[in-house]
Amino acid sequence: MLLKDQVAIITGGAKGMGEATAKMFAAEGAKVVIADLDKIGADALVEAITAKGGTARTYNKVDVTNKEDLQQTVDSTIKDFGQIDILVNCAGGTFGGGNGNSDNLNMDDWEKTMQLNLNGTLNPILAVLPQMKKCNFGRIINFSSMGAFDAYTVVLHYHAAKGAVESLTHNLAFELAPKGINVNVISPGPIMTPFWEELLPTGDERTQFFDQLSAKEVPMQRMGTADDIAGVCLFLSSKLSNFVTGQKIYVGGGMGNILSHNSTFLMTSENNMVNK
Ligand SMILES: NC(=O)c1ccc[n+]([C@@H]2O[C@H](COP(=O)([O-])OP(=O)(O)OC[C@H]3O[C@@H](n4cnc5c(N)ncnc54)[C@H](O)[C@@H]3O)[C@@H](O)[C@H]2O)c1
Repeated sequence: MLLKDQVAIITGGAKGMGEATAKMFAAEGAKVVIADLDKIGADALVEAITAKGGTARTYNKVDVTNKEDLQQTVDSTIKDFGQIDILVNCAGGTFGGGNGNSDNLNMDDWEKTMQLNLNGTLNPILAVLPQMKKCNFGRIINFSSMGAFDAYTVVLHYHAAKGAVESLTHNLAFELAPKGINVNVISPGPIMTPFWEELLPTGDERTQFFDQLSAKEVPMQRMGTADDIAGVCLFLSSKLSNFVTGQKIYVGGGMGNILSHNSTFLMTSENNMVNK
C-alpha cells in the first residue's frame, strides 16, 4: 500500500478525476476527505469507498472560493485524523461554455473562472499549509490545462487562470522545498469526465468531437480516463516521488511533449524526407 495511513484532502473529489483519485488513494490505504460543492455526490462517494473497506469522509459543502468552507473541512480533518499529508486540488472548470476570445470574452465569466481555478487552488493550499509546515511534510498537486501554454483553442479566462496556477506551483515549490512539502502540477490532455458537460451536450455531437480530437490531436489517439490521472496523482503523493517538486507533468497521451502524427505534414508520405 503506497499511502498507508496518509490523510488526503481532495477538492472537486465528488466527480471526474477527483473521484477516481479518491478511490485509488483509499485502495492504497489513505484516509480520504472529499471537499466539493456537490455534497450529494461527495456523500455517495464516501459511502462507496466505505463499502469497499476504505476510509473516507466529507464534512460540509465546500466552495473552494470560500475560505471559511475550507477551514471547516481542515479543522474537521485534523479533529478526526490528526494530520493532513496530501492535498489534491482538482476543483476547476470554465464558465461561458468555453467561449472566451478577445471578441466575445465576458468579464463576469472571467471573474468567476479566475476565482474558481486560481483562488480555488490557492485557498485550499493556504488552509492546509499551517498543518503541513508543523509536520515538515506535505504533498500538493495542482491542475493546469494544455491550453495554458500550448493553446490549440482560445479560451482566454480559463487558460490564463491555469497559466497562473502553474506559476503558483513553481513559486510555492521553491518556497516550500526546504520544509519537506512538494508542490507539483498536472497538465491533463482531454480526459473523459463530467467537465465536458459545460462545453458540449452528451450524445452524438460529443462522441464525434471526442473521436476527432483523439484521432487528430492526441499522439496516442485516444481520450484519457480519470484513472490515467489518478495514477499520476498516486505517484506524486507517494514516496515514489520524494525527490520531485516544482514539476509540470503532462498527462495527455503524448500531448504537450510530442506532436500528434496527424498534426504534422512531415509525417505524410509525400513530405517525409527520411523514409522516402
Ligand atoms: N477533463 C478534462 O479534459 C480536463 C482537461 C484539462 C484540465 N482539466 C482540469 O482538471 C481538473 C479536474 O477536472 P475534471 O475533469 O475532473 O472536472 P469535473 O468537472 O469532472 O469535476 C470537477 C469537480 O469539481 C467540483 N467543483 C466545481 N466547482 C467547485 C467549487 N467552487 N468548489 C468545490 N468544488 C467544485 C465539481 O462539483 C466536480 O465534482 C480541473 O481543474 C479541470 O479544469 C480537465
